Amino acid sequence: FPTRVAREMRRGTALTLALDVAPYALVAVAVFTAAFGAPVLTRLCAVVLATYAGNAVFGECDLASWALGDAPRSAYRGKTVWITGASQGLGEELALHLGSMGAKLILSSRREETLRRVCEAATAAGAEDARALTLDARAGSAAMREKGAAALALAKEMAGSGDGADGTDADVGVDYLFHVAGGSQHAAAEDTADEVDRDMFELNTMSAIALTKALLPSMLARRKGTIVAIGSMAVKCPAPGQATYAATKAALSAFCHSLRGEVADRGVSVTVAHPGPIATGLGGQTRVIFGATLAKSTCDTAADAAAAA
Ligand SMILES: NC(=O)c1ccc[n+]([C@@H]2O[C@H](COP(=O)([O-])OP(=O)(O)OC[C@H]3O[C@@H](n4cnc5c(N)ncnc54)[C@H](OP(=O)(O)O)[C@@H]3O)[C@@H](O)[C@H]2O)c1
Repeated sequence: FPTRVAREMRRGTALTLALDVAPYALVAVAVFTAAFGAPVLTRLCAVVLATYAGNAVFGECDLASWALGDAPRSAYRGKTVWITGASQGLGEELALHLGSMGAKLILSSRREETLRRVCEAATAAGAEDARALTLDARAGSAAMREKGAAALALAKEMAGSGDGADGTDADVGVDYLFHVAGGSQHAAAEDTADEVDRDMFELNTMSAIALTKALLPSMLARRKGTIVAIGSMAVKCPAPGQATYAATKAALSAFCHSLRGEVADRGVSVTVAHPGPIATGLGGQTRVIFGATLAKSTCDTAADAAAAA
């Protein structure tokens, strides 16, 4: 984990774990102190637990990123970042955010024209370079492997202009891979057709696994790389109407957690972010939703979420 951002992400993982475990520890301490007559400590535990409950109710669940603060702007300067689902919503905001930090961007989704528009906006925001690479995430593993090779070829093409890149193969690759492409669901499990279940798994889970495997050999050879998957709070909190969606994100999350253990000591880090509701699909864009329309809810903006990621 040579770079500062990798250290931050590792600290983030430890902190996330600590924050996950803390409520149980607090309940134990509160019961213990109540039994042995230490009301001040019991009250203190109750206040902290209430904070946790408030956080869960309002769907923030980002105590770790709040505690760590933003990544330093230098973390992404000159780095090659591949973002799927970059044509709108969270992926687009992430492209603009990391672009403003001077990253070299490879932006993917199905719509080439829209991606080109995001590339232009990201370049105007400060990206060192920005290229569109169209892909249909439901096209299957073989197609994802081809896209992985195409992304590496683009990274090589862009390397000439990079800070410190000397153009040798060992120096060139994708530094960050963000799996953002995805579709949500607003339908009861009993009303969801089998093909829709399969489509959601292909889009949210299988494509991310295949793209990860396509890039891993290059990342491991360079002993350098960060993979970030966008999961969902639905993994952590039961979400009626999102059964398959939650399952796709839970599967992706479990894949990433296992993978992290496999590659952690070989220079590659793996992170999963579980955002709560974010107000994407605005300004004329339609969110990718399987089933009925999106229920109204309290949302962060996509820009807030991109900054937190
Ligand atoms: N918004 C939320 O409240 C929320 C909360 C938690 C997690 N998330 C997750 O965050 C990610 C982004 O969410 P969002 O709200 O920004 O979604 P969004 O506005 O619906 O955008 C989805 C993105 O995925 C791309 N995409 C969809 N189908 C694709 C396919 N077959 N092949 C390639 N790209 C495809 C879309 O691009 P094209 O249409 O151009 O292909 C688009 O760029 C998703 O994984 C979502 O599950 C969102």
